[in-house]
Amino acid sequence: MQDKATLHLDGKSYQFDVFTGSENERCIDIQNLRAQTGYITMDPGFANTGSCYSDITYVEGSKGILRYRGYPIEEIATRATFVETAFLILYGELPTPEELKNFSARLKEHAPIHTNLEHHFSGFPTSAPPMAILSAMLNLVSCFHPEVLDVPTTGDEFDRTASLLLSKVRTIAAFAYRMAAGKPINHPNPNLTYCGNFLHMMFSDPYQEYEVSPIVDRALNLFLILHADHEQNCSTSTVRVVGSARANLFSSVAAGVCALWGPLHGGANAGVIAMLEDIHKSGRPAQYYIDRAKDKDDSFKLMGFGHRVYKNFDPRSIILKKQVDGLLRALNLDDDLLHIAMQLEEVTLKDEYFISRNLYPNVDFYSGLLLRAIGIPLNMYTVMFAIGRMPGWIANWQEMHEHNLRISRPRQIYTGKTARPFVPLAER
Ligand code: CMC
Repeated sequence: MQDKATLHLDGKSYQFDVFTGSENERCIDIQNLRAQTGYITMDPGFANTGSCYSDITYVEGSKGILRYRGYPIEEIATRATFVETAFLILYGELPTPEELKNFSARLKEHAPIHTNLEHHFSGFPTSAPPMAILSAMLNLVSCFHPEVLDVPTTGDEFDRTASLLLSKVRTIAAFAYRMAAGKPINHPNPNLTYCGNFLHMMFSDPYQEYEVSPIVDRALNLFLILHADHEQNCSTSTVRVVGSARANLFSSVAAGVCALWGPLHGGANAGVIAMLEDIHKSGRPAQYYIDRAKDKDDSFKLMGFGHRVYKNFDPRSIILKKQVDGLLRALNLDDDLLHIAMQLEEVTLKDEYFISRNLYPNVDFYSGLLLRAIGIPLNMYTVMFAIGRMPGWIANWQEMHEHNLRISRPRQIYTGKTARPFVPLAER
């Protein structure tokens, strides 16, 4: 028998279905609340609001659990590639060798972008933020593939569109960087891996082909895997909201890129490095920044700390911390910023302000250090997050269509002026 929740309101009782998810998460289904009672719920920031039922990613914030399609992030991060992970997120199962071969072949096929599209890069000022370029270019790609404007949500056409997007996002990202750096673009090389190809497009020069080290290739795989999905975060919710109006996949993910750009979301990875560099250059003690973060009259926040869902630890941060340390050693690098980051973490873990608010390092705290070690420039960090999040955005967009969700359209409680007569201009 299904549980019910009873609401007593204005002398009447109303019953609502209680639904239990596969991991025993519970919700009260209030889809008929307004029709039955005339009331709506109020939840700015949606901290207590479920917007969908989803089979893709499970996060248990109090225990630091993250699973893609049931597989723990700790295992995927060390045993899979990003391409396998993307397949898993999109299709629900790890690929067989045959499926992986075909999926990889599709990604290779779609890596180049139309020559006319290449010309658009030179229209941006060299100072253009790569996130702005990425969002604009993702919309633009659809103009060169009109068939995707009305994309089906299943079958061969969806498979084709999904791999086109997963592949081209990486080419666009690398071209944006080359353009801003005033360097000639490098076309994709079909003989390279997904990550190797990206590194080649970023760093090869006319007289010096970039040599992809397996260590760096693996590190980049890890970074992208850890960002591949994270259930209903701000950018994924944006993709769903835009997609719910039946906007095409390209416009929906372009909107996701814009949401991700914000410093409280994906933009935090660049914010962390900027903050660590500032600590390093200024020579001020970490405590100075901690005190500022605690000061309610100061808008400064400790970048890379806190999370809406993780209230104990972020498993991605634990994996990254370990990997960054190993990567630096393997590359024979010593980064002062890693020492500062670890010191900052140590101090905050003992600080009452951070303890009482459950503020721990999140994925962005150590990810920038990994990107720095493999030579990615600071203004590309959030773009890297976007490349990683693409499978999650596509899978959520597809699932929303599969579940035939209604258009997203929240309600509000109006608090403005009540009805009043218009005042003619001469009388104001
Ligand atoms: N530094 C100082 N105080 C903080 C921080 C921080 N980084 N994060 C939260 N707080 C305080 C906040 O001021 C509030 O204090 P009080 O209860 O006294 O008003 C309390 O902790 C609860 O925070 P909140 O803002 O209500 O939490 P939220 O769930 O709305 O926001 C967050 C989550 C991630 C936006 C926030 O923690 C934050 O701004 N962190 C810094 C930016 C960051 O690292 N973002 C990356 C998030 S993880 C990856 C991603 O999504 O992209």
